[in-house]
Amino acid sequence: MLRSKIAGIGMYVPENVVTNNDLLRYMDSSDEWIQERTGIKERRYAHRTKETTTTMAVEACKIAIERAGITPVDVDFIVFATLSPDYYFPGCGVLVQRAMKMKEIGALDVRNQCSGFIYALSVADQFIRSGMYKNILVIGSEKHSFGLDFSTRGRNVSVIFGDGAGACILQPTEQEHKGILSTHLHSNGESAEILAMYNPGTHANYWTEQKLADFDEAERGEMFMSHAMIDGAQNFPFMDGPAVFKKAVIKFPEVVMEALHANQYNTSDLNMLITHQANLRISQYIQQKLGLQNNQVYNNIEYYGNTTAASIPIALCEAWEKGKIKEGDLVCLAAFGSGFTWASALLRW
Ligand SMILES: CC(C)(COP(=O)(O)OP(=O)(O)OC[C@H]1O[C@@H](n2cnc3c(N)ncnc32)[C@H](O)[C@@H]1OP(=O)(O)O)[C@@H](O)C(=O)NCCC(=O)NCCS
Repeated sequence: MLRSKIAGIGMYVPENVVTNNDLLRYMDSSDEWIQERTGIKERRYAHRTKETTTTMAVEACKIAIERAGITPVDVDFIVFATLSPDYYFPGCGVLVQRAMKMKEIGALDVRNQCSGFIYALSVADQFIRSGMYKNILVIGSEKHSFGLDFSTRGRNVSVIFGDGAGACILQPTEQEHKGILSTHLHSNGESAEILAMYNPGTHANYWTEQKLADFDEAERGEMFMSHAMIDGAQNFPFMDGPAVFKKAVIKFPEVVMEALHANQYNTSDLNMLITHQANLRISQYIQQKLGLQNNQVYNNIEYYGNTTAASIPIALCEAWEKGKIKEGDLVCLAAFGSGFTWASALLRW
């Protein structure tokens, strides 16, 4: 049976470390509040003009490609997950293809926010299982620091997010008990607006009773991004934190158990659970709910914040580099976020 395995993994985080105290220059908050509510001590911010979501991804890709023992021209498909693309369009996949001088291969961008990497992995997994491709580059990368509201008004969101990238090469394997065993993808758009960036967009207030943006009187155009939207700070992410929290602590354990049960495993079989690094309190709740020991989970949100689509590949790469994931280990990846979308993947390393 053909399965896909992670043949190489890499990560990149910018040099610039930003502590909680550094943020106090812009907003009314405290190191104590941020650590207590989120677990975050510091995060990395990309260089304002010299680093982009794509350039960070390229650094992670170089490592993943080298570790897989291939070269960029061997890559036959790209799946790129991000919510902070270099351009509104085209997506970042083609920019990686260009930057890494790859062949004229397919490049697909995935817009599933915090679940983006698992969705990307699942798409790539299907292409490998069908025999269509042999070296797929799967990427999660985010440059959040370019578009957060750093005033006190935006502090519930801006203290959480950080920049970084992770990538892996998926290859086919016929080895029994190796590679991705299954992936599980879900969505429920009922609460799409409680964790969202509304503008620029084409919604024109269609979906909600509540007015999300001001549109001026122009007969055509000027609805995508207007001066009024910018003046009203409507171009920043919005999050109802407590509502997200409540849903996340239900869906995370559910989707982990779904992956384990689909493969006739239980929590005691699990060597490592890597959850999307949304908030340390959420990760700790999941650990407790599933009855997992400390050596069965890996968290690094303390040092990178929430890097959305990049958080799982960064944590997976770091855990593997530290020797916490070994050949043959049963590893579960799980994510929940904006949409809402949530997902899991179970793999034998
Ligand atoms: C965002 C989050 C940390 C906020 O923590 P919380 O305990 O729920 O806090 P609340 O939003 O209820 O706000 C409590 C108070 O802290 C204040 N506050 C918000 N951000 C603050 C900050 N950075 N510094 C200081 N105070 C802050 C609020 O204004 C509020 O004050 P009030 O009670 O006077 O109105 C938390 O809800 C969370 O982590 N949610 C999940 C978010 C997430 O994971 N998002 C990523 C998507 S996967």
